[in-house]
Amino acid sequence: MAYLGIDLGTSGLRALLVDAQGTPIASAEHHYAAQNPHRGWSEQDPQQWVDALDHAMMSLGAEHADALRALRGIGVAGHMHGATLLDDAGRVLRPCILWNDTRSQSQATRLDQTAGVRDLSGNIVFAGFTAPKLEWVRENEPETYAKVSKVLLPAAYMNFHLTGDYVADMSDSAGTSWLDVGARDWSDRLLDAGNMRRDQMPRLVEGSAAAGQLRDDLRQKWGIAGPVTVAGGAGDNAAAACGIGALNEGVGFVSLGTSGVLLAARNGYRPAPETALHTFCHAVPDRWYQMGVMLSATDSLNWLSSITGKSPADLTKALGHDLRAPSTLRFLPYLSGERTPHNDAEIRGAFTGLSVGTTIEDMTQAVLEGVAYGLRDSYDALCGTGATFESLIAIGGGSASRYWLRVIASVLGVPLTLPAKGEFGAALGAARLGMTAAGDASVDEIMGIPAMADQIDPDPALMAGFAEGFDRFRATYPAIKSVQ
Ligand code: XUL
Repeated sequence: MAYLGIDLGTSGLRALLVDAQGTPIASAEHHYAAQNPHRGWSEQDPQQWVDALDHAMMSLGAEHADALRALRGIGVAGHMHGATLLDDAGRVLRPCILWNDTRSQSQATRLDQTAGVRDLSGNIVFAGFTAPKLEWVRENEPETYAKVSKVLLPAAYMNFHLTGDYVADMSDSAGTSWLDVGARDWSDRLLDAGNMRRDQMPRLVEGSAAAGQLRDDLRQKWGIAGPVTVAGGAGDNAAAACGIGALNEGVGFVSLGTSGVLLAARNGYRPAPETALHTFCHAVPDRWYQMGVMLSATDSLNWLSSITGKSPADLTKALGHDLRAPSTLRFLPYLSGERTPHNDAEIRGAFTGLSVGTTIEDMTQAVLEGVAYGLRDSYDALCGTGATFESLIAIGGGSASRYWLRVIASVLGVPLTLPAKGEFGAALGAARLGMTAAGDASVDEIMGIPAMADQIDPDPALMAGFAEGFDRFRATYPAIKSVQ
């Protein structure tokens, strides 16, 4: 028996094949980009996702045809909040507007101030969320808006491609501002506030429950012998939490992806929108989680890489092994605006303290520290709601840099742990959801915390310096804000 986890990410799609114990067999990845045709815009053509899946399945099939033949379940994790608009024939009406697109700030502010919206949705209406995007389309592209028959998040669009049905899970749907996050159902009042209707929404299922069956033509194309259950799936952060076993209070992770996320599993639903934290349904029944989200984590390093012509790995490697004293060069990682703690789609990044002697290495160090300070904002917000952590698990592409992890541990003042080896991100979480949806494992059986191989402790000699650096980082935001 085998299961497939699909991680539909911002920079590419990763397909992970696991066996009946949830152990990885093989993975394949295919990259694509987002389009930024105007300042603050970030879009993707959903066909890019479908093509990437085709590529990934072809390469898995070429090397692992036997495992693929025995496939029984699929789960999809998607980057959250994206608005994929379909007409009544299921055709895509315009490019998907992504989570890091900030064009709909004014629509978001209006919705956020509408009575009852924060209470029911449990969250600030951020510009990146789905409801304000549809308000933007209504105001700016009325012809498209008039044809919208369904709005699907990226993972739900992939579910539609796989099954032919419109089905979404609650963890992802919680980021639309149309879901009553406590009741885990679409809210007519929220839909009404956003000028949408229930019939434009997909059917809701829990992430670990079955959404439908894989279409026969795809089954044949990929050489699969029997029926395959497709799970409800999840937003990528909930899926990563399923992959790392972050289901209960006290367990949390730092994810260094395009976005930076500090996530805490919570026992119960306790929204705290005033903190700019996100409070969302988990991908398994009766659970919720909270997270702080920064919009540009590895994206900040990727930006430095693109303007210096050096790869992110080379940039971080050049810093060497030993942690340097906190830099006086400061980087504000607000390249696409910021969610936690500022809820500010308009703010943009900055370096302060540049001198004629500043080198690329200094800038790299400042970028890594700036992202760490941004994560500290989320950490403080989470601790303020009563979350406690003895340690945090480090995941995501950026966690390949030891140097970065050591900075983050010292800035947060909490140890970071690293799973033994292999795969513990959103793709594994999605595969685990595929297993539960197929009825082959229970959530408790399959979603444990993996063994940790390493722990990165805060550096006591540098913590005071980083605390001071964080205070200056906090003071820089209003100063920059006042001149932008
Ligand atoms: C979460 C968010 C991002 C995306 C990126 O609210 O917007 O973490 O899910 O993958």
